[in-house]
Amino acid sequence: MTSLLRRKTITEAPPEHQLARTLSWPHLVALGVGAIVGTGILTLIGVGADRAGPAVLLSFLVAGAICAAAALCYAEMATMIPASGSAYTYSYATLGEVIAWVVGWSLILEYSLVVATVAVGWSGYAVGFLKGLGIILPDYLTHGPTLGGQVCGAAATATASFGINLPAILIIAVVAGLLMLGTRESARINSALVLLKIVTLALFVAVALPHFDMANLHPFAPLGYGSTPGQCGVKFGMMGAAAIIFFAFYGFDAISTAAEETKRPERDLAIGIVGSMLACTVIYMIVAAAAVGALHFSKFSNSPEPLALILREIGQGRVATVVAAAAAIALPTVILGFLYGQSRIFLVMARDGFLPASLAKVSSRGTPARITAVTAVLVSVLAALVPLDVIASLANAGTLCAFIAVAVCVLVSRRRDPGVKRPFRTPLIWLVAPIAILGCLYLFTSLQSITQISFFIWNGIGLAIYFLYARRRASIA
Ligand code: ALA
Repeated sequence: MTSLLRRKTITEAPPEHQLARTLSWPHLVALGVGAIVGTGILTLIGVGADRAGPAVLLSFLVAGAICAAAALCYAEMATMIPASGSAYTYSYATLGEVIAWVVGWSLILEYSLVVATVAVGWSGYAVGFLKGLGIILPDYLTHGPTLGGQVCGAAATATASFGINLPAILIIAVVAGLLMLGTRESARINSALVLLKIVTLALFVAVALPHFDMANLHPFAPLGYGSTPGQCGVKFGMMGAAAIIFFAFYGFDAISTAAEETKRPERDLAIGIVGSMLACTVIYMIVAAAAVGALHFSKFSNSPEPLALILREIGQGRVATVVAAAAAIALPTVILGFLYGQSRIFLVMARDGFLPASLAKVSSRGTPARITAVTAVLVSVLAALVPLDVIASLANAGTLCAFIAVAVCVLVSRRRDPGVKRPFRTPLIWLVAPIAILGCLYLFTSLQSITQISFFIWNGIGLAIYFLYARRRASIA
């Protein structure tokens, strides 16, 4: 039992495992905004509106508030323990090994599934763009295997087919190549794309806001304010929608994985995490208000490209094309942020003995090239072969688990080690951390039952691996 709860003392990595410190706070804010603003705001706003009506605005507010509370907890832990493993490392140092393992295992769901989901989403844009140029890829190279129809619903018509999503593999390879080339170089390109993304959303707001009509907000919450189970275990209502809108907000946590590449981690990590989260909450509220005010939600809910559709419906077809194209060009920043984060978490797990130590070797350019390549192969397999509609919402479950763990870590460490140096202190911690914990627990219960069950099965497999294999390999064993 004691060995299950043994805690790791965080020490400096050996020289061959040390990363180059090249980032400062503007890079971190851009890394955060790049990872946060993605398919969530571009497509899920439609799904959210379908489940909550105009009350999706409140779903954004609720999901944003819970993430803001979690972000403050991350800022405290990241500046106190500036190591690259994020929630996994904080749990190892604070809550014990077996909990750290579960958190690390859940983080794989978050990071790898987001990379795979966004790469597949991007592939859809790329295939459409190539088609516009007259280049038509064979169908079996544009999607992963289909399972033979929806598990549930009247529209269960599709048949099973085999396929490999080639564009998704290619974009992951390009982003991984960039990350292996250099962290600073990646951060520079990321910053330029993030700027493009923000300008695109600003353009949407500038064009859509003048069409704001209060009549579009009625009825405001046609499906109520709670979380009501509907067909296929999908949860409707304002809180039901918040559980899915949550996807749009995370990504700020990827900044904490940059701790060992940041020049002044004790200051810059807090600015990066809190700054990017605040910036994105403001951006999202404005974009969401402009969207539901410009067009009645029933016309864009469940559209694969709701923002472009809204622009077309208000007679701005050209702007719609520009917004859709710019969004697609900038989307890979999400892949970059999450691939970066996953490779750093695996790097730390390799240093801790849970993966082969040779994978933790850092290249002459100061990047963890080997583990980045291995991570890219893993997520490419997911993106190329796994039917993501079945598993994408699992990323939310994994993230909620990590957020809860970090908020618990702050409370435990405040109690256990009140005197330890904390460059950033979360204000009102006994209010903020419980909001993060209870909010995340509530959002977890609002996920589809199939997602919840899959999450527990995934962690069951993880625990079996831990007890049969990993436990003995831990470097502190
Ligand atoms: N927040 C990220 C997105 O919306 C995961 O794509």
